[in-house]
Amino acid sequence: MINSYDKLLLENKAWATQQVKKDPEFFSRLLEIQTPEFLWIGCSDSRVPADKITGTQPGEIFVHRNIANMVVHTDTNLLSVLEYAVVVLKVKHIIVCGHYGCGGIRAAMENRSLGIINKWLRNIKDVYFKHREEINQEKNDEAKTNKLVELNVKEQILNLAKTSIIQKAWKYEQRPNLHGWVYGLNDGIIKPICEMEPGTKIDSLYEYDNL
Ligand code: CO
Repeated sequence: MINSYDKLLLENKAWATQQVKKDPEFFSRLLEIQTPEFLWIGCSDSRVPADKITGTQPGEIFVHRNIANMVVHTDTNLLSVLEYAVVVLKVKHIIVCGHYGCGGIRAAMENRSLGIINKWLRNIKDVYFKHREEINQEKNDEAKTNKLVELNVKEQILNLAKTSIIQKAWKYEQRPNLHGWVYGLNDGIIKPICEMEPGTKIDSLYEYDNL
């Protein structure tokens, strides 16, 4: 009997064989060094695969995914990825990509206790609270969710700009650019929502002056 996961291993073998057939140096080239230009911070949702929807190849995009593409300033996982991408890999662009119909965003707008995930969703609830009036002007639940999806991406871009990691790279190396995008599950199209260039002013409360 073939288990469902055996298909993954078979597909992997076929993929590896295909890659070598197309480009004999493919793996040996990637073995030594990775020089991705992009850091992708996306949702864990299985329908939003970073490399597939952007047509990027192995080696081109450094990826971090969590529920609802959050940049939480106490999350050592995210911060480690961010610091490595900015300081060591020297990425030029960071993309925070949300998606319409995000289950994490929807759950954060509801009142059901879901266990430990409450603590994660709490970060999204705070974004909802901050923009509640604007969001509640939308006509139905779906539109409200999608409005929060967009505003949440903007908020996470701001959260990146509030980190000393980004502020230091902006000050000394004039990179990276920050991009907020939202992916449409219904049509596969990514919509750019916002952008922050190196040196963009943020509220002075969040600025470090001794970097
Ligand atoms: Co999602």
